[in-house]
Amino acid sequence: MLDNAGITNTTTQLQINVILNAFCLVCSLVGTYFIDRLGRKPTAMISITSLTIFLFMVGALTKSYGTNSTNTSGIYATVAMIFLFQGSYSFGWTPLLYVYPPEVLNYSIRANGMGVMQLALNGTALMAVFAFPFALVAIGWKTYLINAAWDALEVPFVWWYWVETAGKTLEEIDELLDGVKHSTAPDVEKVIRGEVGRDELSLEKADEEQDLKE
Ligand SMILES: *[C@@H]1O[C@H](CO)[C@@H](O)[C@H](O)[C@H]1NC(C)=O
Repeated sequence: MLDNAGITNTTTQLQINVILNAFCLVCSLVGTYFIDRLGRKPTAMISITSLTIFLFMVGALTKSYGTNSTNTSGIYATVAMIFLFQGSYSFGWTPLLYVYPPEVLNYSIRANGMGVMQLALNGTALMAVFAFPFALVAIGWKTYLINAAWDALEVPFVWWYWVETAGKTLEEIDELLDGVKHSTAPDVEKVIRGEVGRDELSLEKADEEQDLKE
């Protein structure tokens, strides 16, 4: 990406990459905080919308000020957009990739589902790592536009299909997706609001103890 942006000095590339990774760490920590505060879905929407816009900007700026340009302002702008793009990704996707799938997969398919998810994720990453350098050499800045167009499709997908899971127990999420509650544990929200009292909780426990004795 930096080669295409017009930064070919390897030391400069290394410095930018070190700072970029540190920046992404901070963004993902902030995102980790927000997936509980804002919820999974809004965080994903913010992340995808902004990363799509920034990736289109990377493409446009690479086209205008890439490879053969000497306009340093333009090259800096491209680097800034790469930072904003990667930061937007880290804000949403870095935490969500590991929080959301195990929440929406129900108990019986959780382990296998995570296996399939990791296979798909790493398979796609493998493809991208090998294919993108060739794509960048062959069609340059257009690679970004194709990628960003795909990201744009994810916005309505998340909007329509994602179910908010923040603040719910796995049993409550199960009920949300299945329509059936497979557990007798009281809902967390009800306990917090005081609708299910300690008495009720301890009564259930007392009943169980009584049953055991009998
Ligand atoms: C870089 O490009 C912009 C937009 O075309 C222009 O305003 C600016 O003067 C250029 N800077 C240099 C150093 O050529």
